[in-house]
Formats: sequence, C-alpha cells, structure tokens
Amino acid sequence: MVNQQNFPIGIFDSGVGGTSIWKEIHTLLPNENTIYLSDSKNAPYGEKSEQAIIDLSIKNTSFLLKQDCKLIVVACNTATTNAIKILRQKFDIPFIGIEPAIKPAALKTKTNTIGILATQGTLNSALFEKTANTIDQKIIRKEIIGNGLVNLIEDGKLYSSEMTALLKSYITPLLAENVDCLVLGCTHYPYLIPQIREIVGHKIQIIDSGEAVAKQTKAILAKFKLQNTSTLKSKHEFYINKNKATLEMLVQSEKENVRFIETDF
Ligand code: DGL
Repeated sequence: MVNQQNFPIGIFDSGVGGTSIWKEIHTLLPNENTIYLSDSKNAPYGEKSEQAIIDLSIKNTSFLLKQDCKLIVVACNTATTNAIKILRQKFDIPFIGIEPAIKPAALKTKTNTIGILATQGTLNSALFEKTANTIDQKIIRKEIIGNGLVNLIEDGKLYSSEMTALLKSYITPLLAENVDCLVLGCTHYPYLIPQIREIVGHKIQIIDSGEAVAKQTKAILAKFKLQNTSTLKSKHEFYINKNKATLEMLVQSEKENVRFIETDF
C-alpha cells in the first residue's frame, strides 16, 4: 500500500484569500507539504449560484486529487457553505471546511449584537442558516454582504482609497448599532484587519476562523494517521489562473521552498 502520510495537504479557494488559512496551517504544521489552488479567474464565488459554486468546487478538488493530496481544506467560506456536503458525498477523502465564526462571537459578545461580514453566497446558504439557528436566539446578527471587497483584494488594491471607502460604508453603521464583535466570514478579509482597525479602533473585537481551521486540520491528520513523518523541509506549490502578482505579494515572506505556478485548470 502507498504511504499517504508524506503526500501534500490540498487547499483551495476562489482566489488568493485562502492563503490566510494556508499561513495558519503552515505555522501550526510546518512539516506538512501543501498544494494551494487559487481559482482567481472565477472569483468572486460569492455572487454565483449554488450549482456554479458546487461545480467549481468539484473541479478544484479533482485537480488537487490528481496531485495526490491526502486531505483537502476548503479555504473558502462560500465554497464550504454551498458545496462541502456534496464534496464529502462524492470524494472518499477527508475534507476540512471553514464557516463564519458566529458561535465563538455569540459566546464573546457582551452587547448581544454581532456583525458578520461575508459574501452573499455564504450568508444565503442553508448551512449558514443552520449554524445561525444553533446560537442563542436573543443575539442580534447584523449581516453585511461585502460586495466588491474580494475583487479589490484580487487586484492587489488592499490599501487603496476605494477599499477604505467601501469598508467604511459597510462597517461604520455597526458602530452605531452596538456591535461589539465583528466576524470576518470570508478568507480574503483577514488581509483587511489593519484597515478595519483604523475604522473601528478597539471598540469591536474582530474574529476569524483561521486558527480553528488549522487546529482542526491537525486533529483530522492525527485521527486518520496522516501526519507527515519526513524530516525534509516542507515544499509548497501555489497554482493560480490569474492575479499571480497579488498571490506573490501575500505569500512573499515565505518564499523559501515555495513555487508559484500560473496555469489554467
Ligand atoms: N475567500 C472566499 C470566502 O471565504 C471568497 C468568496 C468569493 O470569492 O466571493 O468566502
């Protein structure tokens, strides 16, 4: 039997945002090889139909499985909330998904009012509604669709005046609505934390799910006895079909043993 332990972890997102999750995984599991797929050509997923998101997620998974990935991290809230159930039915491999961290926010809030910034596809999904129904129903949820944010990040305009204006229009109203926790429900958004802090100061706690996903990945690798046992330095391949410069900018501090490959898939 082939020893799968030293095979890479596969990670995909609609674009470059899932690298925020890749960084958490690489920090917690530095020994693991990874293959990241950034489907930037089709971003944003958040404005697509559920079926289109499912089809793209199947395509991304098939690509990663052809590269012998031992486990798949769906580093995209939109793909997880719309497609992970189907992926688990279709493919015989462990999947880790990511959902907006509304459960931790519900436990942390003192004002019983939380903000959730996510894509339309995530906020409208049945899985998000199901999770939202499990939290204390006296908690008020202020849901904001972050239209335009993913496009600006994909174009590398993280610190542009357009970004500041868009963020202000989405987030400033929360300050008047007694929100004390803001959930970042899209893996692109952790790259906006400094800009969001400029707007909200320290009045609001910013919560994302990256660290929890890395811990879950570690736990699932252990459960299936899939931890990498090699003593070689880990290798990382990033496949991207558009916006390579943005990807390189976001992952630049980690250049050693990292390859960026621009290709169609
Ligand atoms: N990173 C994706 C997410 O977590 C972005 C979605 C999109 O492409 O609209 O939802």
